[in-house]
Parts: sequence; C-alpha cells; structure tokens
Amino acid sequence: MNSTKEKCVGDTETELFNPNVLERLSLSPIEGLLLRPLQSGDYDRGFLQLLSELSEVGNISREQFLNRFHMMRSTGSYYIVVIEDINTGKIIATSTLVIEQKFIHNCALRGRLEDVVVNNEYRGKHLGKLIVKIILQLSRYLRCYKLSLDCKDRLIPFYESLGFKREPTNANFLNMRFPTETTAEQSHL
Ligand SMILES: CC(C)(COP(=O)(O)OP(=O)(O)OC[C@H]1O[C@@H](n2cnc3c(N)ncnc32)[C@H](O)[C@@H]1OP(=O)(O)O)[C@@H](O)C(=O)NCCC(=O)NCCS
Repeated sequence: MNSTKEKCVGDTETELFNPNVLERLSLSPIEGLLLRPLQSGDYDRGFLQLLSELSEVGNISREQFLNRFHMMRSTGSYYIVVIEDINTGKIIATSTLVIEQKFIHNCALRGRLEDVVVNNEYRGKHLGKLIVKIILQLSRYLRCYKLSLDCKDRLIPFYESLGFKREPTNANFLNMRFPTETTAEQSHL
C-alpha cells in the first residue's frame, strides 16, 4: 500500500495547521460555536456542502478530500479556519488564508484571502465578519506584508467595512480561465 492510500484508510483525525496559532490570537469564545482549523474528519461534518454555497464543488470522494487535505497540510501554507456548531456537529462557516512566499520585499510573505462562506441559515449574525477578521489577525501574526482578495462587485462594501481598500491605479483583477482537463489533479500537482 502506498503512503497516500495509508493516509486515506483509517485516517486519524488531523488538523490542517497547528491550533496553537489560533489560541495565540486570543479570540473570544462564542457560545455554542467552536472556532478551529479544518480537520481531516470534516468531510463528514458538511464542509464540502458548505463550500457548495460559494461555488461548484463537484462530487468529491473521501479519498480525494483526504489527499488534497494532506497535500495542503504538507505545504504549511494553507490556513483553513472553520466554525463548527457544537450542537449539530456541522461546519457552518469557513475562510482560508493562503500564504504566498516571495523573493520581493526581502523574501516577504503575501496573504490571500479565499473561500469565505457562512451557511445560509447562520448569515446576518456577523459570523462572516468574524471569520474574515480571524484571517486578518492570522495574516498579521504570520507577518504577511499584505492581504489580498477578489470578490463579486456586490461584496465590495462587506470587505471595505473590514478595512480592505481598492487602491488607486492598482484595483484591477484579471482572470484567464482554462478548460477543466488542465486542473491540478491532471497536471500532476
Ligand atoms: C458574504 C457572507 C460571507 C457574509 O456572511 P454573513 O455572516 O451574513 O455576514 P455578516 O453578518 O458578518 O455581515 C457583516 C456586514 O456585512 C454586510 N453584508 C453581509 N453580506 C453582504 C452582502 N452580500 N453584500 C453587502 N453587504 C453584506 C451585512 O449587512 C453586515 O453589515 P453591518 O455590519 O452593517 O450589520 C455570506 O453572505 C456568504 O457566505 N455568502 C455566500 C458566499 C460568498 O459570496 N462568499 C464571499 C466570497 S468573496
């Protein structure tokens, strides 16, 4: 059996990143909710269903989920934070900080805020703001020189209310989309 298969079969619950990092941010506890790193067992706690409220996820098997989880974990650059409703055991909010290592700015680190989503039934309770603020604090703690995001036009006020700014002469975001055959799994990443 290869090592990837061993990780998928009988996978003991693992955290994506060291939870001490969140403890060091001195976050206030919220009754009934648990704020923590993504765990390998979150496949069964509705994590992918939550993401499907943000974008198309596809039909991901447990093995695919665990393979991707362990690949992300091994890089040390992915900080996926989740909020679990302790009563239901379901993941109800998430956001991601990806750390990009640079040569510029004296080998600086740049943060990217990704995949912010709050379960539809929990929206409007400031959990969205909370889960983004945690990424802001994490980025500062990890000494990123900046944190960037892209979002739908209608969400600009949401992010501006959290301190993000459209910088004059530097507020463009361009995409080039590729056919799905060239996505990560097929390109040997
Ligand atoms: C965007 C999203 C994360 C906000 O979560 P939420 O928990 O409802 O947001 P909050 O309750 O923390 O709202 C904070 C503030 O932002 C405002 N806000 C929330 N959603 C907004 C939206 N879609 N557009 C504009 N303002 C919004 C709220 O009115 C609130 O304002 P207030 O502080 O004056 O009361 C949530 O609507 C969501 O998951 N949407 C689907 C996925 C998505 O689009 N994610 C963003 C990808 S970039």
